[in-house]
Amino acid sequence: MIVLGIETSCDETAAAVVENGTRTLSNVVVSQIDIHREFGGVVPELASRKHVESISMVISKALSDACVDLHDVEAIAVTRGPGLIGSLLVGIGAAKGLSYALNKPIFAVNHLHGHLFASWLDNDQMEFPFLGLVVSGGHTSIFEVRTPLDIEIIGKTRDDAAGEAYDKVSKLLGLGYPGGAIIEKLAEGTSTNGLRFPRALMEPRNLDFSFSGLKTAVLRYSEKIFANRYEKKIPGSFQQITPLEPSSDDCHHIQKIAAAFQEAVIDTVVKKLFMAVEIRKSTRVVVCGGVAANRALRNRVISEGLDRGIDIILPAISFCSDNGAMIAARGYFLYQEGIADSLDFGAKSRW
Ligand code: KG4
Ligand code: ZN
Repeated sequence: MIVLGIETSCDETAAAVVENGTRTLSNVVVSQIDIHREFGGVVPELASRKHVESISMVISKALSDACVDLHDVEAIAVTRGPGLIGSLLVGIGAAKGLSYALNKPIFAVNHLHGHLFASWLDNDQMEFPFLGLVVSGGHTSIFEVRTPLDIEIIGKTRDDAAGEAYDKVSKLLGLGYPGGAIIEKLAEGTSTNGLRFPRALMEPRNLDFSFSGLKTAVLRYSEKIFANRYEKKIPGSFQQITPLEPSSDDCHHIQKIAAAFQEAVIDTVVKKLFMAVEIRKSTRVVVCGGVAANRALRNRVISEGLDRGIDIILPAISFCSDNGAMIAARGYFLYQEGIADSLDFGAKSRW
């Protein structure tokens, strides 16, 4: 069963061909990071225009990399939301056109369910039920996935997502966009020297997250340490530090802040994840989404899973950030359940 998966919810134009929901025959991702970097975040109008330019080429390459012809495709899966409406519509339009022209079923996929089903890619050991932590730029949520159609959200962020906190902290420290990989690198092997930022909502049985207080704590601390480096031009808005000389004392401070920030994020998500494991008596855990590419997070989840005898499934790093293969994997399960969509569905910014 060959499924073509298409993903354009944010700033990656992606398509992939997946066989039987697990075997990845191709996975093409064209990132727009270079375009958005100078703005310090994704500019929706630029994103949708770029998707329009790239989508046909990305789909053609996914088919040719997989050595399949359009007529070999048996179903089309596409991200319906949540995401940027203009961006989503580009993928949805392409998918509907193909579905109509080829007379093949179309499956509208929830992007977060796509991240969860990345755990099936190139992994024939995967089984239901499982607990899934999605940590990305837009979401930080815990799901209990009992069957393909029985998916319950049991915790989510009340404000910023974990990846969004990485991006905002990186921006306020003048480090660039996107912040995740930059902060991970600075934090690697760096001691926090006792610097500790707050962890929010840690009371027992609370599975919700909040990262905006952490971000503000980093800002307040940085303002104190780098008092002379902040340009106070826009009252109340996030200020960016002026660039630093490499290996100055200030750089050591930045590294320490990055390490303490990352420790607070990882500590929070891991404690909440295993709190959920205990509450739901789960034995299998999936950690996915862009932030799941973080090696410190991966190592901590693996070691705590080992201590508790819990199976930990971490999708390959290339399947953590947004991609079409995870959408195809999810589409395959919808196909098996007979849940095809008609051609009149629209994009959903929230879902
Ligand atoms: O899943 P994703 O590609 O897009 C969304 O659905 O949001 O996640 C992107 C997010 C960004 O916020 C980025 O900073 C973060 O994932 N990220 C990381 C790492 N790589 C990407 N965060 C922490 N450590 C990383 N290595
Ligand atoms: Zn995503």
